[in-house]
Amino acid sequence: MRTLIFDTDIGVDDAFALAYAARTQHLLGITTVFGNVAVGQAVKNARLFCGKMAINAEVYRGCSRPLALPPSAPARLHGEDGLGDAFDNTCSDQAPGAVQFIIDSVRAQPHQITLVAIGPLTNIATAINQAPDIIPLVKELVIMGGAFGTDGHSGNVTPFSEFNIWKDPHAADQVLASALNVVVIPLDVTHKVLISGDEVQRLNQPVLSAICRPYLAYSLEKEGFEGMALHDTLAVAWLTLPQAFTLTESPLRVITEGIACGQTVRKLSALASRQDPFNGLTAQRIALGVDADAVRAHFFQTLTAP
Ligand code: BDR
Ligand code: CA
Repeated sequence: MRTLIFDTDIGVDDAFALAYAARTQHLLGITTVFGNVAVGQAVKNARLFCGKMAINAEVYRGCSRPLALPPSAPARLHGEDGLGDAFDNTCSDQAPGAVQFIIDSVRAQPHQITLVAIGPLTNIATAINQAPDIIPLVKELVIMGGAFGTDGHSGNVTPFSEFNIWKDPHAADQVLASALNVVVIPLDVTHKVLISGDEVQRLNQPVLSAICRPYLAYSLEKEGFEGMALHDTLAVAWLTLPQAFTLTESPLRVITEGIACGQTVRKLSALASRQDPFNGLTAQRIALGVDADAVRAHFFQTLTAP
């Protein structure tokens, strides 16, 4: 079991991931960020979901906009409120600062804390910019984000870019190019682990069933599939079932402008050049293969356990 700071723009698949993490890891705190919803809504959603699921974790309020780009509209796929518009949410949107919480926690427990980041990477980039001393002190940073084109999974916002990276490409570039100990869980693997509407019902978790209705309707309309990709749950699955993943290693960067803005790129050539934008960068781990049956089975077993 790891000690986690769970960094999320909490929408529907984030909530599934949080339910899974709460049953398998020690949650030190939930840090929120803009993305699927505005940051204030993310604070409210985290509080509401934790209350309904009996998850005991403090919630923190993080960045409200990207480092350099203008703010963009929240995602509609998760419903207007990010949690499928299933519940009235009267929780407060005020909370202590997420970035300071990350910095203080990592300093207080060096090499003990795993960061799981399943939204835009703005909180993480801001934390390492304000306190670069924490970079070697983070045990591991697990990111759901990016896409490398395996089996055609090259993007879900544009043909080149995945949502979390596209929302703040500058933050993602700084984080991926840093010396943090990173593992990236991209669309290449998250799109292989799907859950149908019937399977959600069989989890026998009424809150999860209620929040995913618009997401399921959207998938049916846009992709002709009555179900959803578990996306963010895969970042937690890396902690519970690392043997289910096949990794490759490479320095990583993110394209921050032009038609490929938000694209995650890895160094594929052995070219030695002074012009190489990967020069001096740490090779990061990227999951490009997954045993989807193993992950699904563990997820089901965990969520249906009494
Ligand atoms: C990612 O985008 C978000 O909408 C999901 O919550 C997930 O983190 C998938 O591209
Ligand atoms: Ca997310």
